[in-house]
Amino acid sequence: MGGIGIRILVLHGPNLNLLGEREPQIYGGITLEAINTELRKLAAELRVELAIFQSNHEGALIDRIHQARGAEQGILINPAAYSHTSIALRDALAAVALPVVEVHLTNIYARESFRHQSMTAPVATGVICGFGKDSYMWGLRALVQLVTARNKAAPD
Ligand code: DQA
Repeated sequence: MGGIGIRILVLHGPNLNLLGEREPQIYGGITLEAINTELRKLAAELRVELAIFQSNHEGALIDRIHQARGAEQGILINPAAYSHTSIALRDALAAVALPVVEVHLTNIYARESFRHQSMTAPVATGVICGFGKDSYMWGLRALVQLVTARNKAAPD
């Protein structure tokens, strides 16, 4: 699976830079750097390139999504708390019309009710949540499969 020439954008939303020290009873002890290292390893196996970006700012995430036009072929995103609040982020994802997989470390449906709704999920192809760092790994595999299938259906 996978393919040379495929570039994937990985986006991490607010507060994810603090993973490892942030509410470890909820998010575990893994750092964002460790997740990124595992993602890069998996990307090498799948023979795809990754661009990884984290921001605590809604507008910076939106700007980076816009930059994906013509540069990346799919977006793996953990919008973090913006999942539950940001129509602007949702609209940005819809605007660029790339395959999107949304991931969450935790099972947002097993947590507070304000986390049960995701504004961004309806514009994603699918959502993977509740598997800790493995949500990202399953998410990357799913996204690469999607992009590969898309490329086969419409080669450029
Ligand atoms: C999260 C879940 C969100 O509700 C929360 O605001 C986060 C992290 C997760 O990965 O489990 O910051 O997206």
